[in-house]
Amino acid sequence: MCGIIGYIGSRKASEVLTEGLKRLEYRGYDSVGIAVLNDKKLEIRKDVGMIEDVSTTLQFTNIEGNIGIGHSRWATHGVVCKENAHPHFNTRKTIVAVHNGVIENFTKLKNDLIEKGHEFTTDTDSELIPHLVEENAKSQSLLKAFMKSVRQLEGSYAIVALSTEDKEERIFLARKNSPLVIGVGKGEMFCASDIPAMLKYTKTFVPLQEGDLAVLTKHGYKVYSVDGSETTRKQITVDWNIEMAQKCGYPHFMLKEIFDQKHFINESLAADVDSAKSIIDEYEKIDIIACGTSYHAGLLLSYLLSEKGKISQAFIASDYPFIAKPNEKTLIIAISQSGETADVLQALRYAEKSRKIAITNTVGSTITRISDSIIYLNTGPEVGVAATKTFTAQLAVIYKLIYGKKKLAELPKLIELMLKLENQIKKIAVKLAGKEHAFFIARGKNVPIAYEGSLKFKEITYIHSEAYPGGELKHGTLSLITDGVPLIALAPKDDTIPKLFGNIKEAKARGAMIVGLTNDEDVKKESNFVIELPEIDPILYPFALIIPLQLLAYHVSVLKGINPDRPRNLAKSVTVE
Ligand code: AGP
Repeated sequence: MCGIIGYIGSRKASEVLTEGLKRLEYRGYDSVGIAVLNDKKLEIRKDVGMIEDVSTTLQFTNIEGNIGIGHSRWATHGVVCKENAHPHFNTRKTIVAVHNGVIENFTKLKNDLIEKGHEFTTDTDSELIPHLVEENAKSQSLLKAFMKSVRQLEGSYAIVALSTEDKEERIFLARKNSPLVIGVGKGEMFCASDIPAMLKYTKTFVPLQEGDLAVLTKHGYKVYSVDGSETTRKQITVDWNIEMAQKCGYPHFMLKEIFDQKHFINESLAADVDSAKSIIDEYEKIDIIACGTSYHAGLLLSYLLSEKGKISQAFIASDYPFIAKPNEKTLIIAISQSGETADVLQALRYAEKSRKIAITNTVGSTITRISDSIIYLNTGPEVGVAATKTFTAQLAVIYKLIYGKKKLAELPKLIELMLKLENQIKKIAVKLAGKEHAFFIARGKNVPIAYEGSLKFKEITYIHSEAYPGGELKHGTLSLITDGVPLIALAPKDDTIPKLFGNIKEAKARGAMIVGLTNDEDVKKESNFVIELPEIDPILYPFALIIPLQLLAYHVSVLKGINPDRPRNLAKSVTVE
């Protein structure tokens, strides 16, 4: 979703903003723009396209000046076009603003402003912000006008704005249901939607809270509550470095992040799960809420908790309020690598009476502030849109929670071993790249991994794919299994194999091209292609299975000429419901 960056200091703002927007690319966008204040005038450049192209064509970094704001837009209100790209400005071009989120009462506010003589040139809801601030500033100071304007907005927003008429040099910030973080430098200040955009310059950050307003000057920052009173917010220091947010020689972030798993797994296994563990012991009923990849990790967690005698169910977060009735006796475990997924946050707010544990990768994210206990994944920033290392890290902390660390001693070696299969997987990818459909099957605790393998596959290869517990094939899907249709069978030698073998044979009899992830001799004989699994403690099979599936999706994507880091229509951090 949209990305925001802002800078005030002594550097060339246009360079910081361009660099920051490149670091925010993973969030997904369709147009970009920057506005820089120089000599009391605003230079605004924006267009549809990728930051690399637009910044070169429009020569972003030729703009002089030390204060500016930038934005990458993911269209919600209004088509993708140059005019609708941010930054937006008032008619006199004295106030400029960038906005993430959706202003729900924009029609009324816009009509009121039109009546007062303001002229609008775009279809966006965001354009009303500089007009509204201008209108309010007619009768009060700029800071008060900004605060009043923010109070008039309904919906979700992260807003960054500045004015040519400001006597001091300042950047104004506001956030509600859309992330915004201040980066604290020496004689310079930053703000952005996400930490990696500022990592080159600082490791000290102040995540704003819901309803916060803030003002940045070259020398510091002030945070205000929604009522305008000054308040303090905790500074955090991250131990991420810039290399973690760079490709480091890999052709794509996704491949780097898949290989990162061998380094970060030890960090994830070191995660502190003790407080969460004792909370879990107190409850009988545990609801798990998450989306996408995190939901698949949640599904596995629900199986493991049920095995321990808990009443546990995993819910797709966006649907949770429609189907669940959590109360004081329900414990909620929310899983979100970003900690900012709107669907997860709204489900957490819905469960207002329940105690909450969050599993996240992002220090200072919103989820950490509305949860009672937090487990961090410790796996460094994940830039590729497709979640890979964060999924494995989620599994690692979940396993530590359930089985304890001792049982996981072999995990780092296992991950290294599975990564060595890359060349073999590349050859299988060639056989899949031309297909239109793919089906993934598994049974029992391997089913969430089949779901995840299938999600990874469809999201970056654009090949239609579905995943099922093997027993479901004969209840409908078998009619789609014809000559050469790929069936990817997650068939480790565990208690699921006898039944799954039958499902594989059913599909083979109808001409399916079987890719067996297996260490079972019978399954190998039925498979057209085999990805060999090692003999391990059966509880570890989900880890052994997911890595080849991530590599398979990646290589099919690359063979098809797709950029796996930025699949079409998708955003890394989904901050709208
Ligand atoms: C998976 O590859 C996707 N990036 C997506 O399904 C993601 O897992 C989902 O949007 C949830 O994100 P979160 O973990 O940050 O909440």
